[in-house]
Amino acid sequence: MENRIDALLEKMTLAEKVGQLTSWSASIFGAFDMGALIQQLVDGAISIEEFESLPRDYHEQEIRDGLVGSLGGAPDVDTLLKLQRIAVEESRLGIPILFGFDVIHGFRTIFPIPLAEACSWEPDLARRTAAVAAKEASAAGLNWTYAPMVDIARDPRWGRISEGAGEDKFLGSVFAAARVEGFQGDLSSDESVLACVKHYAAYGAAVGGRDYNTVDMSLPLLHDVYLPPFEVAARAGAATFMSAFNDLNGVPCTANPYLLDTVLRGRFGFRGFVVSDANAVGELVVHGFSANLREASRMALQAGVEMDMSHGYYRENLPLAVADGSLPGKDLDEAVRRVLRVKFRLGLFERPYRTDAAKAERTLLASAHVDLAREAARRSMVLLKNEGAVLPLAKELRRVAVVGPLADDAADLLGAWAGVGKPEDCVSVLAGMCAAAGVATEILHAPGCKVLGDDTSGFADAIRAAELSDVVVAVVGESKDMSGEGGSRIDLGLPGVQEELVRTLVGTGKPVVVVLVNGRPLAFPWIKEHAAAIVEAWQPGIQGGPAVADVLFGAYNPSGRLAATFPYSVGQVPVHYDHPMTGRPAAATRFSSKYIDGPTEPLYPFGYGLGYTEFTYADLRVDRVEVPADGKVAVEVDLTNVGPVFGEEVVQLYVSDLVGSRVRPVKELKGFHKAALMPGETRCVRFDLEIAALGHHDEALRYLVEPGEFRITVGPDSQRGLQATIRVVAG
Ligand code: BGC
Repeated sequence: MENRIDALLEKMTLAEKVGQLTSWSASIFGAFDMGALIQQLVDGAISIEEFESLPRDYHEQEIRDGLVGSLGGAPDVDTLLKLQRIAVEESRLGIPILFGFDVIHGFRTIFPIPLAEACSWEPDLARRTAAVAAKEASAAGLNWTYAPMVDIARDPRWGRISEGAGEDKFLGSVFAAARVEGFQGDLSSDESVLACVKHYAAYGAAVGGRDYNTVDMSLPLLHDVYLPPFEVAARAGAATFMSAFNDLNGVPCTANPYLLDTVLRGRFGFRGFVVSDANAVGELVVHGFSANLREASRMALQAGVEMDMSHGYYRENLPLAVADGSLPGKDLDEAVRRVLRVKFRLGLFERPYRTDAAKAERTLLASAHVDLAREAARRSMVLLKNEGAVLPLAKELRRVAVVGPLADDAADLLGAWAGVGKPEDCVSVLAGMCAAAGVATEILHAPGCKVLGDDTSGFADAIRAAELSDVVVAVVGESKDMSGEGGSRIDLGLPGVQEELVRTLVGTGKPVVVVLVNGRPLAFPWIKEHAAAIVEAWQPGIQGGPAVADVLFGAYNPSGRLAATFPYSVGQVPVHYDHPMTGRPAAATRFSSKYIDGPTEPLYPFGYGLGYTEFTYADLRVDRVEVPADGKVAVEVDLTNVGPVFGEEVVQLYVSDLVGSRVRPVKELKGFHKAALMPGETRCVRFDLEIAALGHHDEALRYLVEPGEFRITVGPDSQRGLQATIRVVAG
């Protein structure tokens, strides 16, 4: 391969080299000077309608001229095949193109948002949904997904919390690896796509939860919490990374040699290429970090961003930087080499086409994919409350009122970044409930209100439906564009008058089951207090409706556990289970770490979730109490299903490092196991805990496992469990 790359490099002109480092966009309309067009739109020189009706130009001539390394967007399969044919058969050197797209939680078959899927605590589920997403995307002519998003997100105000695996580094790392494996397989199959791990790095820590905002954090925190999922993804073989928009400690991630070179390549052994986030190279100028686009392009390239996703910054500027001597030609060659290596690794030179229209037709929305969407959705849902066992709903109910603005809504089930998913592919909660209800059960429906706005004129119909029914199912939450990119919120309550609607429904005296459809943790203390039951359904994808019905009628016993803490109030944010130990933990006294006007405890902790059966934990044991720093300890607990039905429990193992040379988190997740037990069954659940995984970074960024006492807690969530103590001794 290296010889072939050398041979190509020798033949390439400067323009062709820079072409390989260029990712163009074809997703909106593909006009070459998109920056200028967007400016016209901003200035009002053209209307949005005119903008959208512009003819699509997929840069055929530039591809023929060898000036396009990658194209973003998902036009139809025939267009992509035609473009690839131009690149391979009509361009001088025949270098194939990478076709990239945001396949975040499905391509056409849309699965639950990634945050939801993480609540299954089943990495294998994520591997399977990613593999199906790759299968569909590749059948449609794509070969690169801008996923997985592995940003740790401890701030639910940040709308992009929906795109990742939540607040925890351990759970996040396990899901990061699973998704990379699911997308890529071993890259030998035509059904694989390249993964792109994003957004490198610490984008989830934007100050105030405001998208694109600055990030300032200590390097030990960066390495202990924010980088582990990236490292695991790199070691799982991810072919590409995407540099983040934000600055980190004053240096934008897109021109950050420490992150891109020292850490990613040096420490993590990454051998693929890095693409900038959309326009991020140009934004170096807006950050005030580069004086102009020429400098921005050179700085990004030299820091380690090989490909520019934009409207042509590298293409315009790198040749100028080479000409003025500020960019050595060997730096450019090295970047081209890295891009070509990935194309070879994917086998794109040997098999550039990989699909045809018939394959696309039979693959997208295949029935097995739709079945998996239902399975993934119900496994992602979290039962938060179930007072008096109102759930599962009895089959012999006379009437059920299915109300709320999201009950008869299909589009919002998709969530943000929903590939080419279509609202008409979705089955709403109302439709799912109607299909699942017994023949004798009548379903009444009234929306009550909209997601946003203050119109309460629909309340009366919803109340009437409630009064006529045995139980009320209120489907409330957020519309899909309230989370995702640019979807930061200042308030974490239910938007509009939805909480008022729920209060009015509770006022009827009928039991109210609240089903939440949303893209982030929300704060709803009144509802927690007064609803009979609460199901967090998230944005569950195209089979959301049937999956909600499976959970509500008991065809599926919910097994999801929260992958992110739900705050009691937005004022607690950031609130996460693994916060560092304070010198004055919350206590009854005023001068302790707490609030004077509300609880310190969150609404629901990380790891929390209920089911329709109950589990007990007994006899936590460790096979040794003293263990060397390079050793391991076997931890066992007896788990019993003491309830009436088959169920699944996520057994969670947390470790607290009781004394450290730096202040340590109160606890950290270090293992979990999802166990399925019949009623009455007892199972011994065993963890082999590697002591090497219990360390942390010091100021000099050395990874240390310090001798001393560690407390192990094994239980159903981050707040409860049985405990044992071990002593780590120098290895
Ligand atoms: C987002 C990325 C995405 C890219 C390409 C950007 O605005 O931040 O996550 O992959 O657009 O669509």
